[in-house]
Parts: sequence; structure tokens; C-alpha cells
Amino acid sequence: MAARSLLLIRGGCVVNDDSSQEADVLVEDGVVQAVGRHVLPPGDAPAGLRVLDAAGKLVLPGGIDTHTHMQFPFMGSRSVDDFHLGTKAALAGGTTMIMDFAIPHKGHSLIEAFDTWRSWADPKVCCDYSLHVAVTWWSDQVNHAEVKEEMKILTQDKGVNSFKMFMAYKDVYMVRDVELYEAFSRCKEIGAIAQVHAENGDLVAEGAKKMLALGITGPEGHELSRPEAVEAEATLRAITIASAVNCPLYVVHVMSKSAAKVVADARRDGKVVYGEPIAAGLGTDGTHHWDREWLHAAHHVMGPPLRPDPSTPDFLMNLLANDDLTTTGSDNCTFNSCQKALGKDDFTKIPNGVNGVEDRMSIIWEKGVHSGKMDENRFVAVTSTNAAKIFNLYPRKGRIAVGSDADIVIWDPKATRTISAKTHHQAVNFNIFEGMVCHGVPVVTISRGKVVYEAGVFSVSAGDGKFIPRKPFAEYIYKRIKQRDQTCIPTPVKREPYKGEVITLTSKE
Ligand code: URP
Ligand code: ZN
Ligand code: ZN
Ligand code: ZN
Repeated sequence: MAARSLLLIRGGCVVNDDSSQEADVLVEDGVVQAVGRHVLPPGDAPAGLRVLDAAGKLVLPGGIDTHTHMQFPFMGSRSVDDFHLGTKAALAGGTTMIMDFAIPHKGHSLIEAFDTWRSWADPKVCCDYSLHVAVTWWSDQVNHAEVKEEMKILTQDKGVNSFKMFMAYKDVYMVRDVELYEAFSRCKEIGAIAQVHAENGDLVAEGAKKMLALGITGPEGHELSRPEAVEAEATLRAITIASAVNCPLYVVHVMSKSAAKVVADARRDGKVVYGEPIAAGLGTDGTHHWDREWLHAAHHVMGPPLRPDPSTPDFLMNLLANDDLTTTGSDNCTFNSCQKALGKDDFTKIPNGVNGVEDRMSIIWEKGVHSGKMDENRFVAVTSTNAAKIFNLYPRKGRIAVGSDADIVIWDPKATRTISAKTHHQAVNFNIFEGMVCHGVPVVTISRGKVVYEAGVFSVSAGDGKFIPRKPFAEYIYKRIKQRDQTCIPTPVKREPYKGEVITLTSKE
């Protein structure tokens, strides 16, 4: 018989999204067995018990990064953080689960893309992961590649309950309004949540031409060609289309004040919509695009762009604190300097993407909790619990409670660390948060009951992470949707038939 694996986290303050309590946590075989005082009888120290002292520390549910792109083949290159180093870096930062994107080329099978991403990730991941799948084209033909059918198979058999549609990257991934309508309708039928990259792709393409014609070839042209309004317009359009079909909507990487306001207004109008700011947008801004050093500027290029309005990060954090925005990802999609240099003469060729998977938790603690905008419970909500609820992982993930996976971080809220590319664990040779001093340091990271990172040392191997399938119709989002389907059906006005004169149309009319 295999020996029991037992772990006791003693003396910390256990923080969930709704409460904090001084408690010990007992973990057996990867699952939380007890939370409370004296979870083991006095004097009882079973064989194989490992005790971690958490006195003076917080004991948090591990972070869930809702948005990464590990080893993503994109814009002629491939992002350098692969599923191995990328997930190791996640663990070092207190994140115990990532959600990546399987993205098929137009005309290609969604299931094949899903299988490809799994074949890349499964042997390499050090933390648990799930996959969103992108819908980059639409087809109603009844053949093996029919998108509609594949979405159903992915949802019923493959553990996918979220599909991302791109409103930008014209001719590559972009889909048009009528395709959004179809895709959203399908998501709703199969119990998935629709996700959008909200930027007006036609305006982005025209804006880029305009900037290049003006002789603006550097990274500042990236933001100038796709200003805030381009993001806000697409955000409103996506919300309008999703609302027309009563489909829940999740706006990924909300980068601007304008787009965040659109999401906040829609939530106040009662729409089932969620906004996801990312570490980059909460921790830094787009003034760097104007840096004199080309590489420094190019390393900040991502889409939608970081905004030059320096009040943006604070604004987004305030909305995240008060539930106008709901979750946080990193959109970690990293390219080394020599890859960014593909666009040295033309900003449209700079591979889009920045880091964040390792630093997301510290950035949100520093700018959100240390600054006084949110308490530690809201921190847990926005870094973990809300994602678990929306993507139907709760309470297995996103909570420290009996029966939950023991994905746990012992967090020192008083300690500080200085972020640097010289010391981070990511593969990329640049860090957009370079030099930032952050309170809030993950001291120990535990993945399904195993201590995988402690005081700077990893005890984890490639493939230790697991694919986590997700079921459709997450109650957290679909209860309201289902009820509206029953009660918000328009009905015709009962009238006496019109009996008067009707003109006769002639062919000329
Ligand atoms: O610049 C970005 N965001 N790169 C990754 C692809 C995407 O749009 O999320
Ligand atoms: Zn995107
Ligand atoms: Zn700078
Ligand atoms: Zn992304």
C-alpha cells in the first residue's frame, strides 16, 4: 500500500474570497482534509507528516492565471516561455493553474488545435492547466471540420467550456459580426462562455497604414494606430451581440479606461459580462512605447496596447476592486529581443506580447492590496476564486476548504521583492516590471498537496501538472442565462386583424 502523503500548514491566516480565519490546514493525498484549529489531535504526528510553519503569513488559494500563451506560434515566431519554464515561473509567483489558448488557423480543425496544444503541454507542465479554444472561422458545412459540431464535441468530451473570438488580427484570426453572432449562439447552446479579443480589426489595419505613411515605423505607431476608441467600440459591439443572443461574455485583456467603462456600464445594465484586466495593464503603462531605446519600447508592444494615459493602471485597479472587472490574467506571450527585432523597421511586424505569469500576483498585491484599494479577500477573488467560478472549476480550485485541491500559497504580505529579468524564472530576456519593488512574496507554493516551490527552490518536474477538464453550464453564469431564456421572451401584442385597405405593390415600386 502506498504511504499517505500528509501535509500540515500550521498557524497561518487562511484567506478565502469571503472570509479570513486563523486556522491550520491539513492536506492528504493532494486534497484539503481539514481547516480549523487543532486539526490533528494533540500529540498525533502520523508517519510521513510534513509540517509547514505559516505563523505571521497568509495561506491563500493558488492563483489561477486565466490567460497565457506558452510556446505560441505567432506573427512568424514562437513565444519563448514554453509550457515547462512558463509554468515553473507561474509556481514561483504563486500561480498554481494557468489557462492557455488552443488557436487553429482559419479553415483548420478546432479539435486538431486542441490536441496539438495538449501534446505540447501535457509532457511539460509543472502546474495544472486548462485550455480555452479559439474560433477563428465559421462554417456550416456538414463535414469533419464543421466548427459548430467541433465546439460541441470539445465541450462534451474534451473539457472545454470557453471559446475565444478575435475581433482583430484581420485576415489571420479575425471574425466578423455575423460570425460572432453564430459563435455566441453556439456557445450559449452548449453551455460555454464566449470570450472576445475586442479591437476593431479593420480600424487597426487602416490605422497602421496611416502611421506608416506618416513615417512612424517605431513602436509608438502600434498604440497610435489602435487607440482606446478602437478597443471600446469593439467591446460595446461584442456586448451588444452577446446580449442579443443571451450569451454570457468574457472580455479578455481589458487594457483601456474606455473599454473598462463599457464593461462596467454593461454590468450596471444587467448584462452577463465579465472583464479581465491583465498584470501588464495593472502594473505599467504605454508611455514606454515612446522610449528612445527601440528595444525597450518594442518589449512593451502587445495587443490591445498598453495605454499612454498614465492614470490607466490605477483606474483599472479601482474597477477590479469594486467588481466592475472580475478576474485577472497575464496574457503572458513573451518574445526575446531578437524576435521583437523582426519589427525593427515596421512596428506591425513586432511580435505582440509581454510577460506577467510570474509577477501577476505580486503586482496585484502591491498595486491593489498594499495601496489600500482592496483587501486580501478581494485579492483572492480576483486572482483565483472568480476565475474558478466562471470557468466551472469551483470549489475544486479557487478555495481552501475540505475537498478542494490543495493548491495553496503561503504568502508573506510584509516581505518585498524587486522584479528583474536577471532574477525571474521566465525564459524571456526582458521584464516590463523591471525594478518594481513589490510587497507580497510567495514563500511556499503547493500544487495538489506537493510543495513545489519553497524559498526559491523548485521540487517539480515537467509533466507533474495535469490537464483539468471543465464542464459546461457553470452555475455561476448560467443560472441567470437560463432564467432569462424562460422569462424574457418577447410576446406579440394581441390585436384585432387589420381589415382596411392595403395598396398593391407594382414591380416598379
Ligand atoms: O499581444 C498579445 N496579446 N499577444 C497574444 C495574443 C492575444 O491577442 O491575446
Ligand atoms: Zn487577444
Ligand atoms: Zn520605459
Ligand atoms: Zn492573449
